[in-house]
Amino acid sequence: MGARERFDQRRSGSRHQPVEWSDLRNMEDESDLSGATPRRRPKQDVLEIGGRKLKPSTLMMGHGYDPALSEGSLKAPIFLTSTFVFENAAAGKRHFEGVTGKRPGGAEGLVYSRFNGPNQEILEDRLSLWEDAEDALSFSSGMSAIATLLLTFVQPGDVIVHSGPLYAATETLIGRILGKFGVKWLDFPAGATRGEIEAVMDRARSLGRVSLIYLESPANPTNALVDVEAVAAARDALFGEERPPIAIDNTFLGPLWSKPLEHGADLSVYSLTKYAGGHSDLVAGGVVGSKALINPIRMMRNTIGTITDPNSAWMLLRSLETLELRMSRAGENAARVCAFFRDHPTVESVGYLGFLEDGRQADIYRRHCTGAGSTFSLYLKGGEREAFAFLDTLKIAKLAVSLGGTETLASAPAAMTHLSVPDERKAALGISDNLVRISIGVEDPDDLIADFEQALAAI
Ligand SMILES: Cc1ncc(COP(=O)(O)O)c(C=O)c1O
Repeated sequence: MGARERFDQRRSGSRHQPVEWSDLRNMEDESDLSGATPRRRPKQDVLEIGGRKLKPSTLMMGHGYDPALSEGSLKAPIFLTSTFVFENAAAGKRHFEGVTGKRPGGAEGLVYSRFNGPNQEILEDRLSLWEDAEDALSFSSGMSAIATLLLTFVQPGDVIVHSGPLYAATETLIGRILGKFGVKWLDFPAGATRGEIEAVMDRARSLGRVSLIYLESPANPTNALVDVEAVAAARDALFGEERPPIAIDNTFLGPLWSKPLEHGADLSVYSLTKYAGGHSDLVAGGVVGSKALINPIRMMRNTIGTITDPNSAWMLLRSLETLELRMSRAGENAARVCAFFRDHPTVESVGYLGFLEDGRQADIYRRHCTGAGSTFSLYLKGGEREAFAFLDTLKIAKLAVSLGGTETLASAPAAMTHLSVPDERKAALGISDNLVRISIGVEDPDDLIADFEQALAAI
């Protein structure tokens, strides 16, 4: 038995159905394997020591992978294969009996790379740890994760209740694309109270079956927070047995500073392109939650093929090892940089969660978040001319969209990502010409401040 195959068996045993692996010594058909490499007992994952539950930052280094099953390779190899070899015909039949439901227990093992693969499964095992979730799925992009989730739960005639604003492509997907198939939607503003949320849900019920509640917090691009606890309480009060799941886009603060599953959300959704990937060199997405909700999403992903590729999954494994380090450093840097901006005479205001002091947003922040993140809005005194002068003079920060990478990025949403948004909507969202969006990276904070200082001086 080759290392790859042993790895395959390890993966198939580890994930969906715990398999008791028998030692070669205990196997009745030992003689059948004479000449084969003896099957080794895979290492069990260590999740606690002396009653102490190990932290995700520790488990990122090895969870879900046994080097002994891959020639002793410390790191998981990249499994560049489109298909996996069955041990024998009966194993192939057993797999398809599981897939088709002829045998209870579902599919086992690795069969075809549109469904799963070792790199993706290790990644998913590790992703779920950050939010203490039962299960996780990885996708080819944040948008393909969101699209797969929506297609799983929403049918023609259904109503989606969502917080607003949402990432622009998510709004397009719900409003324009699902709208073509008869799906309706109603939204409430991100900071809405429990009463306001309940009123919107109640109206939605009168329009059709509410099949999904979809949130984004903090919202892109306003940074407005959603009260997930209030949304869950409103949902539970209004809907009986047929409760629609609550999914939330946790890209901006997750998984370090916000764990919405603890506050009543059922599914946490990610653009892994951002902080989780963290180096601005890949595009991927993820969804974490209970097995009961993840399984139907997996079936949809199997059908439409929105899984992440093995290479990106491997890169994400590498990224997750430094996730806490990177996010912590970026968060500390952002606090320093925002304090600098706040006191500068050319700055009108800074939209940074760490500056929330009172009011409803501050209350939501205290209950839901453990950190302010590193992505914020800078409003300069003036308009587009001042914003462009600032952006064009930056020497360390790069002029690019996206966020959550090791390097600092800055852009002007009104002239770039949100150029096509109608003026009234831009005004409502606070997307003015003097707005610069900044995502702080892990550089030296004093170097960053020196860069921003000289760029502000050039306005
Ligand atoms: C909040 C949020 N959700 C989803 C996405 C989409 O992710 P991706 O670009 O990985 O498809 C983005 C991208 O910027 C985002 O900011």
